[in-house]
Amino acid sequence: MISIDLSGKTILITGALGAIAEHMIRRLVESGATLVLTDIRAEEQAERILDDWQIPPSSYLYFAADITESSQVDRVVNSAFEKFPGMDTVIGHAGGCGLHPFASTSEADYERIFRFNYFAQTYLARAVLALWMQRKITGHLIFTSSYVARMPHTQIPAYSSAKAALENFARSLALEYALTGIRVNVVSPGNVAAGSSLKVFDEDPAYREFVLRVSLGRRNSPQSIADAFVFLCSPLAAEINGQVLSPDYGAGIGNRL
Ligand SMILES: NC(=O)c1ccc[n+]([C@@H]2O[C@H](COP(=O)([O-])OP(=O)(O)OC[C@H]3O[C@@H](n4cnc5c(N)ncnc54)[C@H](O)[C@@H]3O)[C@@H](O)[C@H]2O)c1
Repeated sequence: MISIDLSGKTILITGALGAIAEHMIRRLVESGATLVLTDIRAEEQAERILDDWQIPPSSYLYFAADITESSQVDRVVNSAFEKFPGMDTVIGHAGGCGLHPFASTSEADYERIFRFNYFAQTYLARAVLALWMQRKITGHLIFTSSYVARMPHTQIPAYSSAKAALENFARSLALEYALTGIRVNVVSPGNVAAGSSLKVFDEDPAYREFVLRVSLGRRNSPQSIADAFVFLCSPLAAEINGQVLSPDYGAGIGNRL
């Protein structure tokens, strides 16, 4: 029998109060990990949400921060390492957006979406990698992308191109840091029945038809995305580097007729 035991491991997760994150947190805590959680929402709200999810307070530490501000990312990363000096796994999970067609999206909005989905992850990587190098920690950085990084579709050009940049960034870092033992991987979900895409799926018939056509008629469960993270965080994935793991029912492969 193979079981995954992450006890003794500390994992930082950004965007930790989101829909998919709920399932990641559940699974990682069930596997014995201790979590450093960060999200833009205030601490009291976070505590309420995590309490609703029945996450034991002893299993996490929470920091409120806007990840699109590099100084706030630095503060969270430094505080996390003060508390957990050997922290070796960091998940840049925050991201997302609604429908924003290029023609009707202002320059400022386009940049905001791109910053949230791409530049914020570079702030996280910069802060974490510097500390891992200083402390000689062979850490594992994991980013959350989306199948639209490779399968663009209409109305989300800022989001899909930011995720495409993110996947390339992750693979570039994996190469640059390969000899240090630091690894960088990506989880790239398909259409998940949770979170930002839920509203669009419910309200937009064209999007619904598209989703059901590209992903074998169904959407991914948030639990399946959580399982991909548990696997990547585990010793079973210790030799995986620079890869995009895609729990997406094949949505990232291409369009079916
Ligand atoms: N839901 C999907 O179908 C789907 C599909 C593919 C990929 N993804 C990716 O999975 C990840 C999570 O998606 P989700 O749908 O669960 O998200 P969500 O919208 O449910 O959660 C996003 C979280 O990010 C937080 N947040 C927003 N702005 C922030 C900021 N500036 N700083 C810090 N935190 C901020 C929000 O408070 C929220 O808790 C994202 O990277 C998304 O792109 C989602």
